[in-house]
Formats: sequence, structure tokens, C-alpha cells
Amino acid sequence: MRLVRALQSQGFGSRKGCVALVRSGAVEVNGIPCDNPETEVDPSGLVLTLDGVAWVYRERAYVLMHKPLGYECSRHPSHHSSVFDLLPPPLIQRGMQCVGRLDQDTTGLLLFSDDGQFIHRMISPRKGVAKVYRATCADPVSSAMLDALRTGVQLNDEPAPIAALACEALDSHTLRLSLGEGKYHQVRRMIAATGNRVDRLHREAIGNHALPATLPPGQWCWLDENDLKQLEQPWPSAKS
Ligand code: URA
Repeated sequence: MRLVRALQSQGFGSRKGCVALVRSGAVEVNGIPCDNPETEVDPSGLVLTLDGVAWVYRERAYVLMHKPLGYECSRHPSHHSSVFDLLPPPLIQRGMQCVGRLDQDTTGLLLFSDDGQFIHRMISPRKGVAKVYRATCADPVSSAMLDALRTGVQLNDEPAPIAALACEALDSHTLRLSLGEGKYHQVRRMIAATGNRVDRLHREAIGNHALPATLPPGQWCWLDENDLKQLEQPWPSAKS
């Protein structure tokens, strides 16, 4: 692969922009300065350094963010900041998308990728990948409420009741709820259907992969192959 093509694929700009970048002397290939954009590079294990910042070449990008309060998942939000403002420009440029959405007042685990097939596998209800939420409710969590969430609640515009994959009380006002799909405002609507109301909502995990405890709100990290396997782990009862 030509250096200019490698840079373009990683989101460093147009062909013309990447050619200019290399010619300006701002680029190193595996730690060695290179000012010829047509240089052949081997993508495996390739590290591109731009203005002193090292970027590992990735054919596809997978990122996990700790979504903070008050950010929208759309690229051009109307009233709030966008989660895309928290990613570096090359990731925006290479077309990263949110893997499902969280409401602006929901916090927690949010994925981004430029791999369409991965996005489909993560959000398709047929793949049975659980999204695990911690919901803090306005009124106490009752056993009747937990039963209703486990057996299924009727939401407006849905043909049949929807049940949580699992549901447990964590304390008097907090419950953990696992869902196999991601319909619009689903947790809030399911809890409203039981007569309660969500005050705070946080996504703790997807599949078998939990939000890292060390990742502060607003920060993101790369995902490796092992993380992706954990994320794609179907819920035990899901059919393959
Ligand atoms: N369900 C909701 O109601 N909101 C979210 O952000 C995610 C799931």
C-alpha cells in the first residue's frame, strides 16, 4: 500500500491533503521520517507518526466511550454537544458511527466503529447481544415491577409485550435490566409502563464486556480482538 493511501484510509484527509502532509515532513513511518507520499508501506504493524503523535494503522476502527451526561449521539445535535466532539478528527473523518444510541441524559458504555457488519451484529435483535443498564427510579422498585419487566410490558406502537432478558433489584430504587434489542427510549418506556419513572440511566455493559471502571466520563479507548469477542457474546438463551 502507498503511504498516501494508508494515511487517507486512517482519516488524515483527502489524497491532496495527505500528499501535502507527507511532503511537509510531518510524517514518520515506523519511527523513520518519510517525505515521499508514494512510498510502499506494509499495513501490518504499521505505525504512522504525525507531528509527533503515533497512530497504529487499523483497517477497521473499534472504540469504546464512557458517554457523559448531556451529550447527544447525533453528529449535528440541535440542543446539546455531540459525542463526536469527544473523538479526534481522524476518527470522525474515517466515518465512525455510533453503534446504537444513548439518550442525551443516559451515561455509560457507547461504541463507535466504521465496520458496518460489526455494527449490524451488535444492534440486530436476532444476534441476541445483551445491553445491560442500571436504572435509578423515582419510586421504589417493587417485586410486581420486576415481574412485569421479566414477563413483558406493552409499549405504544409495539405489536406485542416486550420482556427484559433479565432484571434484578440492586437497592430500593435501582435495578439492573438486560435487553436484547434497542428500541427508542426502551428502558424509560418499559419502566414507565410499570408505573415508575427513570431518574438516572447508565449502560454498564454490552455482551460480556463491561465499561472499564478506570475510564472517566468523556474518555474513549481502542478495543482489541479480545474485547470484540466479549462484546459479541450472545445472551445464554439466545439462538445462534
Ligand atoms: N433506553 C432508554 O430509554 N434510553 C437509552 O439511552 C438507552 C436505552
